[in-house]
Parts: sequence; C-alpha cells; structure tokens
Amino acid sequence: MAEVCNRTFDIGDPLPEEYRDLLVRMMTHEGERTGNLSFMLFFASVLDNAGKYAPHDDAKLIMAGYVAEEMKHCIMFHRLVMELDKSLVFKDTPFQHYAFHLSRDSWTDMNFFNLFLDLNGAFHAGEWRNSTYLPLARMAPIIERDEFGHSDMGYRFLQETCKTPEGKAEAQELLYKWYPAALDTFGTSTSKRTPRFLYWGLKTKTNEEARQDYKRYVDKKLLALGLTLPDEKANRRFL
Ligand SMILES: [Fe+2]
Repeated sequence: MAEVCNRTFDIGDPLPEEYRDLLVRMMTHEGERTGNLSFMLFFASVLDNAGKYAPHDDAKLIMAGYVAEEMKHCIMFHRLVMELDKSLVFKDTPFQHYAFHLSRDSWTDMNFFNLFLDLNGAFHAGEWRNSTYLPLARMAPIIERDEFGHSDMGYRFLQETCKTPEGKAEAQELLYKWYPAALDTFGTSTSKRTPRFLYWGLKTKTNEEARQDYKRYVDKKLLALGLTLPDEKANRRFL
C-alpha cells in the first residue's frame, strides 16, 4: 500500500509547495472560473448551438438552465481560487483536451457532449468528496450532483433521438467520435504525477481506475439506448 499523507488543509492554512503546485495544476485544468474567458466563450457557443439545433422550445429552456448551473460552478471555483492563487483568477486557460474541440454541429453531438463530458465532471467531483483540500471537499457534493444532472440531461435527449431508426443510426455513427474521446479525458494510465496526487490525497484513484469506473457506468447507459459499444482501444490518443 503506497504511503499517503493524511493531513488536511483549509482556507488560510500554509500549503506545502508540492501540494500547492498540484492543486493549482488541478484547478487550472478544471477551467470552470468566472475569470476564464475561454470558458465563458465556450458556454456562449453552447447557447448559440442550442438556439440553432435544439428541437423545441422546452429543450432550449433546459439548455439555458444547464448553462446557469455551470455559471454557478464558475462562481464557486472563482471563490476557491481567490483563496488559493490570485494569479489564476483572471488567467485565460483554453480547454486543453481535444474532447472539448470536437465538432458540436448537431443536436446529437451536443447531447453526447453532455452525456460524456459532464459525466467526467461528476466522477472527478465524486473523488473530491474525500479531498484533503477542505474547500474542495465541501463543494464537491453540489458539483457532483449537478454534473450527473447535466449528463442525464444529454442522455434523456438521446433517448428521444434513438426512438427512430434514423436517429439511432445517427447516434451510433457519432458514438464512434465521442466514445474514445470520453475515455481519453481520464489521461494516460502511466501519468508520472498520479503517485503524488494520491500521496497528498488530492486524488483517490489512478487515471485507469477512474476510467474503468466511468466506463462501467456509461456503457450501461449506451447499451440501454440500443447502441453498439465501440472497441475500448480504438481511436484512442491516451491509453
Ligand atoms: Fe456540467
């Protein structure tokens, strides 16, 4: 069993240098902050796409509610980062992962984005429940609940789409684009920083353990839609 440091840290506590580096790296990667211009522009594009592709007015209202919740998260992470590292507050950090840059030019693309990427957010927030950084542990249950809601929102719209043979064929086609990207959002299985994240209690699972938990969850949903699961290793960029 690898050694872990069981210390916890709260607002104002002096942070060991390596701990601060890892935490700031994690929050930079997170990107969900009011001062992050790229994040705000990304959600402007979500609203723009909803206006173009949502099949009815109710769907547009639901998408507006989803964006409102993401803005709530932005405020929560803003407050956390204000206490942690003010130089990060206004830093523009474009999404690094290619999954955020896949084309979203159809309603079904948008639904897969929510099903998969917000689910990634839910699984990460689930890990933060036990974070040794107490401000993050305190906000984790709210983020986790909301992100599962966003993922379920995408799933419910996909259920609608998969009711017709044309809709199911479109979803199956687009699944080959989104599925490998979704699994890749957990990073490589050989990340050199993982042991240090685990040591400091900023993570509780390796990338591969988190990825397999996620896969078990989402595969059940995809099979319930009547879709065929792509090969787990096909078209992957981070194994
Ligand atoms: Fe979300």
